[in-house]
Amino acid sequence: MKKLYGIGTGPGDKELLTLKAVKVIKEASVIFAPNNKGKNIALDTVEEYLGDKKVVLIDFPMGKVERIDYIKAAEIIYKEIPQGEYGAFLTIGDPMIYSTFIYVMEELEKTNMEVEIISGIPSFVAAAARAKQPLTVKGDSFLLCDDFKEELLDSVDSICILKTFKNKEEVLNALKNKNFDYKYIKRCTWNDEKILTDKEEIIKDSDYISLILGKKK
Ligand SMILES: C[S@@+](CC[C@H](N)C(=O)[O-])C[C@H]1O[C@@H](n2cnc3c(N)ncnc32)[C@H](O)[C@@H]1O
Repeated sequence: MKKLYGIGTGPGDKELLTLKAVKVIKEASVIFAPNNKGKNIALDTVEEYLGDKKVVLIDFPMGKVERIDYIKAAEIIYKEIPQGEYGAFLTIGDPMIYSTFIYVMEELEKTNMEVEIISGIPSFVAAAARAKQPLTVKGDSFLLCDDFKEELLDSVDSICILKTFKNKEEVLNALKNKNFDYKYIKRCTWNDEKILTDKEEIIKDSDYISLILGKKK
C-alpha cells in the first residue's frame, strides 16, 4: 500500500503551519509540489523540515492544464512513493480550495493509493485576520470566488475574490457600485505583506499572491 497526504502549508508564515503538517512532512519519504520555474511557495514555507528528503517538482503547463496533465502527475506520484511508505503533496493555503491537488487526488483515487488531507489555514482566513476585517457576523452570508461577476454581490454581505490579477478594476468598480468596502491584501503574512485600500494603488499592483476582501457597508 502507498499513501499520499495532501498538505496545506497555510498563507506563508511558517508559524501558521499546523503541527500535523510538520509531523507528516518530517516523516514522508518524498515531497511533491507543483513546479513554478524550479520553485514553489509551499515548499519554501516548509523548507526547514525537508532535510535531505527527496523533493519532486511536478510540471503543470501555465494557464491551460488538461486532464492528461493530472493523470501524468498522478503516475509520477504513484511511481515515486515506495511501497508501504508515504509522500506529501504541498499546496499553499488549504488543499481543498482552488488547488491543483484536487485534480491530482481525483486521478489517484482511481488507483489503490490511499489519500488523506491535512488542512491548512486558507489565504482569505489569514487575510481577514491581518486586515482585521471580519468575514461574517451573525446572519451574514459570505462568498469565495476566483471568477468574479458583479451579480455575485447581489446575494451576499461579504466576499473574497482570489486571483485578483485578472480584472481588478472591474471588481473594484462593482464593489463600489454595490456599496461594499474593500481591502486588497498582497502576500498576506509574508515579510513584504501589504494591505491597500486606495483604488489606484490596488490597480497598479500585479501580484498573483493577492486577494480582495469586500464587505457590504
Ligand atoms: C490557486 S489559489 C490557491 C488558494 C489556496 N489553496 C488557499 O487556500 O488560499 C491561488 C490564490 O490564492 C490567493 N493567495 C494564496 N496565498 C496568499 C497570500 N499569502 N496572500 C494573498 N493571497 C494569497 C491568491 O489570490 C492567489 O491568486
